This record gives sequence, C-alpha cells and structure tokens, in this order.
Amino acid sequence: MYGDRPLAVILAAGGSGARFGGDLPKQFADLGGRSVLEASAELFAADARVDEIVVVVPGEYRDFAEDSLRVACQQKKLTVVTGGADRTASVNAGLAAVSAADGLVLIHDAARPFVSREVIDSVIEAALAYGAAVPAVPVTDTIYETEPGGGAAAAPRFAASIPERNMLRAVQTPQGFDLALLRAAHQKALKDDLRVTDDGMPALAAGARVAVVDGDPANIKITTPEDMPFAALRGSGFRVGFGFDAHRFDGGRPLILGGVRIPFEKGLAGHSDADVLTHALMDAILGALGAGDIGQRFPDTDDAYKGVSSMLLLADVASLMQGEGYEIANCDMTLVTERPKMAPHRRAVEESLATALGTEPKNVSLKATTTEKLGFTGREEGIAAEAAVLLRQRGEK
Ligand code: CTP
Ligand code: MG
Repeated sequence: MYGDRPLAVILAAGGSGARFGGDLPKQFADLGGRSVLEASAELFAADARVDEIVVVVPGEYRDFAEDSLRVACQQKKLTVVTGGADRTASVNAGLAAVSAADGLVLIHDAARPFVSREVIDSVIEAALAYGAAVPAVPVTDTIYETEPGGGAAAAPRFAASIPERNMLRAVQTPQGFDLALLRAAHQKALKDDLRVTDDGMPALAAGARVAVVDGDPANIKITTPEDMPFAALRGSGFRVGFGFDAHRFDGGRPLILGGVRIPFEKGLAGHSDADVLTHALMDAILGALGAGDIGQRFPDTDDAYKGVSSMLLLADVASLMQGEGYEIANCDMTLVTERPKMAPHRRAVEESLATALGTEPKNVSLKATTTEKLGFTGREEGIAAEAAVLLRQRGEK
C-alpha cells in the first residue's frame, strides 16, 4: 500500500534476449550468484509498500522462475504468468494477472537490476500525484530521426528531422501508473493498433499527462554480453573466496610452492605434490564459486591424485571458474613459514600462478611472514598458506 492505494509490480521478463545470445534468456543470466531476474525481484520484494508482484516469463520458464523467486518474494503475493510475442503483449498479460482492481502499478524491465531506491521512490510519488510517471535521463548523443530506407550496404539513410537534444530524454523503467488508467490505455492502444515500446506511450496516446522524473544513468538495461562487466562494476558480478592450508615438512621431498620448485633442504608431505600455496588458492576459488573444496573435488583416497602436480589441479579449477563465466579480478596470498626466505622466489611464483589462472601477474600477489618462532610454523614443523580471491564476471560468454 502506498498511502491508501494498493501497489502492484509487474516484472517484464518475457523476452528471449536475442541480442544477449547464449543458452538462457538474459533475465536468467548469473549476476553474482543469483539471476538478473532475481536481483530485480529482490528490489521490489524488499519494499514494504509493494503488495503483489506479477512476473511475466516465457512459458517454458514458468516453473523455473516460480521456484527461483519463491524465497526472495516470500513476503509478497507472487504470480508468475506466461508472456507474449512482444513486450506489450507481455505487459498486457501481467496487467490481466494483477489481482487489484485499482491502485498503482509499476512496470519494470527485469533486465534493469541496478535501479536505485531513489528512482523507484520518485516514480511512485509522481505516479500517485499525476497518474503516470516514467524515469528518464538526458541523452548524450544527438538523435536523428531518419527516413526509411538504407537497406543496401552502400546506400545510406537520410536525415528526416533532428530534434533539439535538450528536450530529449532516454526513458527507463520502472514506470508507474494508476492501474485503471494503464489498463484502459493499453486496451485503447490494442484497438487502435498502436505499436508501443514502453508503457508511457499508450498512456500519452490515451490523453494522460505523463510525468518524466529523474532516472539514473546506472539503471542500464542489460542487452548484450558486454553489459556484464558493467554489472561487475556495479558490485553485482563479483564473488569473494578464502582458502587455508597447512602441510608438514618432509625431508625426503622437493619443496613446490605455486608450481615453482624452491631450492630448500626439505619439502612438504602430502598425497599430491603438497603445494600448500596452490591448495589454499584453489580452495579460495572453489569457495568463491560455491563449488565445495579441494578435498571434495580431488579426494586423497583417489589414486589418480597421488603425487600429482597441483598445477594440473589448478588448471582444472581455473577451467571450472571460466566455465561459470568468471575471471580473476585479483588474488592475495600469505605464506606462513620461518624458512626459506620467499622474497627471491616471489615473482616467479606470482607469474606461475597467473599463467595457470589466465590472468596478469599484477593480479596475483604473494606475501610471506613468519610467526616469530610461535606455533608449528615457528617450530619449523610445516608451512601454512592463506589465500583470498576476488572473481569478476566476464563479458563474453
Ligand atoms: N520482454 C517481455 N516480453 C517480450 C519481450 C521482452 O517481457 N516478449 C521484456 C524483457 O524480458 C526485458 C524487457 O522486456 O526485461 C525489455 O526488453 P528487451 O531488453 O528488448 O529484452 P529482450 O526482448 O528479451 O531482448 P532482445 O530484444 O535482445 O531479444
Ligand atoms: Mg526486445
């Protein structure tokens, strides 16, 4: 309820995301552990004013969407319906599924998961005051209206008119309306065969005054895979992970750290090559992906991993990470040991791990410390390693 008026939200997620490509429509793409649609739904589910949420999806994704949104939307009445051939048909399906007869409705593109609270608030307030409101930003490019044509490669289109840029606005969502007004406006648009590309358009055509409030340049509509690094910049496409490992010294073995053989009087005991640093790093990456730990992935009861180079295991973890659509933003490690001194080997270890992870050496940092003779590392019984990693969503799929 906003004031004494019920408030419904329709999330338009009925598209196929042709420009985004890939196996799944873009609204189901991963955005740091949840889908773009879930991220959009969470914004409205967390809003105490919202009474009901109607989600419009392609028919074959109804069950999937319902399952994935049940937790996020548990405080709200949630209805998932099948969309139509174009966005307008999907919005009409959503409007038909809103249970309220009057009140306010917000229509939001599920592909805009970064909308701010401020924008939502301005739209709701203006919709209450004026009956129709859309958020918009000034355009930075000069916009030409062109004449039809220009089909052949060599033939250009020609300018028809050039509207004054100061008056132009690029329109975003959520768009807010008096529910009865918008239902009537869409019905009239259907009857008049009006081709509409947002919801302000039928409202305007039906004679409503449509308030244009401040949108936000960060409220982008995810359209192509190149928009995903932007998602990471917005803090949604990052995953953090942490790993720890320790191995006992063994006089009869070589010391391997980060895939580099370090000249020293003893090595480390373990089922594999006992590369304690690489193990901590792998656990950090697996943790960031929510993919368990190295013990699960490479059981030490399995002879396949006996004496194996941990760099082979790291390559496997790196390809898992890449397959999930992530890359290393950076990782930072601390090796805890009294000896050997690591400074001379630091660069080689960083380069070795960077190569295995498909990243630049500058994104890989190795530090070393002693524990001032305290504890098992202080008594020189073994070496411990800690790793923190930040993964970033990649642009290409
Ligand atoms: N949408 C919808 N029903 C459709 C088409 C689009 O509900 N038949 C939704 C999309 O899911 C998206 C929003 O409307 O959240 C904006 O549309 P757009 O960005 O064009 O998404 P798609 O149509 O899916 O993408 P594309 O045009 O690249 O195929
Ligand atoms: Mg489209």
